[in-house]
Amino acid sequence: MNPPVPLIQLRRITKTYGQGAAAFQALRGVDLDVQPGDFVAIMGPSGSGKSTAMNLLGLLDTPSSGEYRFQGVPVHTLSRDERARLRRRYFGFVFQGFHLLPRTTALENVELPLIYRGERARERHQAARAALADVGLAGWESHTPAELSGGQQQRVAIARAIVTRPQVLLADEPTGNLDSQRSHEIMTLIQQLNATRGITVLMVTHEADIAAYARRVVHFRDGRIEREEVPAPRAQPSTGTAAGGEGA
Ligand SMILES: Nc1ncnc2c1ncn2[C@@H]1O[C@H](COP(=O)(O)OP(=O)(O)OP(=O)(O)O)[C@@H](O)[C@H]1O
Ligand SMILES: [Mg+2]
Repeated sequence: MNPPVPLIQLRRITKTYGQGAAAFQALRGVDLDVQPGDFVAIMGPSGSGKSTAMNLLGLLDTPSSGEYRFQGVPVHTLSRDERARLRRRYFGFVFQGFHLLPRTTALENVELPLIYRGERARERHQAARAALADVGLAGWESHTPAELSGGQQQRVAIARAIVTRPQVLLADEPTGNLDSQRSHEIMTLIQQLNATRGITVLMVTHEADIAAYARRVVHFRDGRIEREEVPAPRAQPSTGTAAGGEGA
């Protein structure tokens, strides 16, 4: 049997910022295959090209050279509009800084991607409510970001990322602004989305115990993938075998 077509295939990807003497090569030949349902953590020193790679993966930017196939489609050849359409259909994004609109309710924040898609108000409200419930925020629909904790704000951002039912969740340091307890709650949520819905997750993190939620850990250095490893398995609090009571 042939192996399945990778969801994502990067071949010899480079990215150069700037021109002439000021040019800087942030990616220097990246090869990566990601299968549907995979959970990949990306680690590496500051400036090694992790966010650059995430921007390319999420079709927010284009490589300087190399090939990117998404579901077999050579997306490096698409027009700006075609890329934007694919991005809205297949990708959800979560960032370190949450990126919620201030003075805007949780429900409205989560509805935003559906407004861009031109969906009707009734369907939007329904989908946004369901997504907020999925991240444990039923009842918080009318709160603005200022009225929510950091962990709750990141849950709203995750609800916004999944409300369009994306195939891929791209998360750039999603726990970077959260304390340890909140970080593990957010990671448990992301892991559940991966396990129960098959959402493919690519996540940048600086912390090994956050990367340990993934199935693969890819290490960047100087614009290249230096090595890949399988993280040590985590104790699963949900199986009831872990010592110590862990709240919901
Ligand atoms: N828009 C840009 N213009 C010019 N140089 C850039 C741009 N974006 C990133 N760079 C440079 O490319 C290199 C890689 O940046 P990138 O943001 O991908 O690093 P990173 O691995 O995400 O680092 P960090 O862990 O600090 O977030 C850095 O040297 C950075 O200064
Ligand atoms: Mg970065």
